[in-house]
Amino acid sequence: MLEVAVYDSKPYDRDSLPFAPNAKKLKWRFHDFRLTKDTAGTAHGADCVCVFVNDRVDAGCLRQLSKAGVRMIALRCAGFNNVDLETAKKLGLSVTRVPAYSPHAVAEHAVALLLSLNRKIHRANNRVRELNFSLTGLVGQEIYGKTVGVVGTGKIGKITAQIFRGFDAKVLVYDPFPDLQWAKRYDVHYVKPAAMLKRCDIISLNLPLTPQTKHLLNEKTLARMKRGVIIINTSRGKLIDTKALINALKSGLVGGVALDVYEEEEGIFFEDLSGRVLHDDVLSRLLTFPNVLITAHQAFLTNEGLGEIARVTVENILRFQSRKPFLDGTSLAAK
Ligand code: NAI
Repeated sequence: MLEVAVYDSKPYDRDSLPFAPNAKKLKWRFHDFRLTKDTAGTAHGADCVCVFVNDRVDAGCLRQLSKAGVRMIALRCAGFNNVDLETAKKLGLSVTRVPAYSPHAVAEHAVALLLSLNRKIHRANNRVRELNFSLTGLVGQEIYGKTVGVVGTGKIGKITAQIFRGFDAKVLVYDPFPDLQWAKRYDVHYVKPAAMLKRCDIISLNLPLTPQTKHLLNEKTLARMKRGVIIINTSRGKLIDTKALINALKSGLVGGVALDVYEEEEGIFFEDLSGRVLHDDVLSRLLTFPNVLITAHQAFLTNEGLGEIARVTVENILRFQSRKPFLDGTSLAAK
């Protein structure tokens, strides 16, 4: 029976992974700490490690894993910027991911964040609970008739764009690999990045983090945006230079920000730090803006998403055991 060491595991992981179809054919070991080169020794005896977005699977960590006898890394997420694939290949380690557990979960969360921010639902909810039924300061704006930009028209970006079309917004999109048939079907329009920055009232980031996309939104690109633009990022924190974003919020250039991810979220997001002192001054500043709404990387967190993550992860580990090809599109490195 293959043994799987699960890192950075939370109660919802323990409630889903061992209950996926055929999961009983595997032996599970759950760690609540993250996988790094310093903790990789704890994988000893496991055949596979199962990791999430904030585990740091760099070259040092991979070497330790290989020494400990691990042969497979199963990412229970879509993004894989935290894994050194080159080194994994060199060490002969197989790497899989879950490319699309629920694109709807992430797209719906992006829109939920925007609606809450725009209509000030989070603030209204706090007020009403204190029996403050005043409406002063709660004036919102409609999505109908606005121009919405979606950067990246992969699985999540497409659904996000389609939802915005449902609001009768004009939707402009950018992707180096456009899908013109899809765009025609949903009446969305591919434009160049410069046109998107200039014309959009709302911009949603739905692209992966790569060396090319790091700090895609920076001082220069933010300065080219329409004044008062609202930015949504449910993809990866490092797509935005947070210090530049704070300056743009202070100057009023950016009118609102809805984030499910943050540049330095590692070690902060997914943890209960209430009652502790927050040492991240940039995040602390961001949290003071009335027009910034942040969730801690929860866009994927639906029953449907967790079920699919568990199903695909277990299926791939069993395929690894029986030397069958991994599920389509899930393999990042194979022996
Ligand atoms: P996908 O791989 O289906 O689509 C990504 C799209 O981005 C592709 O069409 C690609 O051509 C495009 N792209 C690449 N470079 C670009 C650039 N420079 N400008 C514009 N477009 C570019 O990925 P999917 O499933 O849509 O996910 C997108 C991202 O969402 C993931 O990379 C991940 O970082 C993030 N994510 C966040 C979750 C959360 O819980 N907050 C959960 C799942 C994914």
